[in-house]
Amino acid sequence: MTLTAEANHATASDRIVFDGIGKHYTRDGDHLQVLDDCSFTVEPGEFVSVIGPSGCGKTTLLNMAAGFTSPDDGSVRVGSAVVDGPHPSRGVVFQQYAIFGWLTVAKNIEYGLTLRANRRPKAERKDVVQRYLDLMGLERFASAYPKELSGGMRQRVAIARAYATDPRVLLMDEPFAALDAQTRERMQELLHETQLSERRTALFITHSVEEAIFLSNRVVVLSARPTDVREVVDVAIPAPRSAETRLSPQFVELRRHLEELLRSESVERVR
Ligand SMILES: Nc1ncnc2c1ncn2[C@@H]1O[C@H](COP(=O)(O)OP(=O)(O)OP(=O)(O)O)[C@@H](O)[C@H]1O
Ligand SMILES: [Mg+2]
Repeated sequence: MTLTAEANHATASDRIVFDGIGKHYTRDGDHLQVLDDCSFTVEPGEFVSVIGPSGCGKTTLLNMAAGFTSPDDGSVRVGSAVVDGPHPSRGVVFQQYAIFGWLTVAKNIEYGLTLRANRRPKAERKDVVQRYLDLMGLERFASAYPKELSGGMRQRVAIARAYATDPRVLLMDEPFAALDAQTRERMQELLHETQLSERRTALFITHSVEEAIFLSNRVVVLSARPTDVREVVDVAIPAPRSAETRLSPQFVELRRHLEELLRSESVERVR
């Protein structure tokens, strides 16, 4: 099996297009051009990671796709519609654990399905919750509260909750950044397995080159500010991927190439 977008339930209306994006901020009278003519596409059912120097505008791009921020130039489209605000068809997972402390794990996963935009009958909600408790290895913690969970488990709840509403696209901003190395690898494997069975259109932001390669069909490398796309790298490594995949010559070569690209961007930025 290859990690391609073919065998999935995504349709053309799930394509994410960043088209000529420009964005600046003004602070204390200073003009900061963050993004400048930045364009790339996430095809339906594809998992695309975005890497780039700190402060280059990754979160800003994700926030535009989520509808939390708008571009000054260009547009973000999902399918044929220009994104002009948040919508339940786009699930977001943040870097910080954004789950409700007063709800149990099961209720957190169910939450989106109880809102008007995504409301499902009770029996169906129960099935969905069970499915994601299983997928994320949280069966024994259905009735636990977030404070009783480790960081990795909380992030699994956040991911389960995002998937549970059956969003057209998933937007994830460094969801594993706060985790230790072992937990992080395990989480990558879980997310990879989930992606293989669910085939969502996914945009994933990370600082980790290894994480980007392991999870993705393609990796978008952003330049330093003012930011555009430096290179888009295909990850033609067959799926399912495992711990051994990380040691394969193909993986190691891709990692070397991406690290080199990032290094050259950081050097240019310091100059
Ligand atoms: N609301 C805002 N007002 C002013 N400046 C902002 C605002 N949001 C972001 N910026 C600036 O825009 C730039 C890009 O920010 P952004 O958070 O998108 O970067 P990033 O690539 O996600 O960085 P990191 O890798 O550190 O998470 C930064 O220089 C930041 O200071
Ligand atoms: Mg960020």
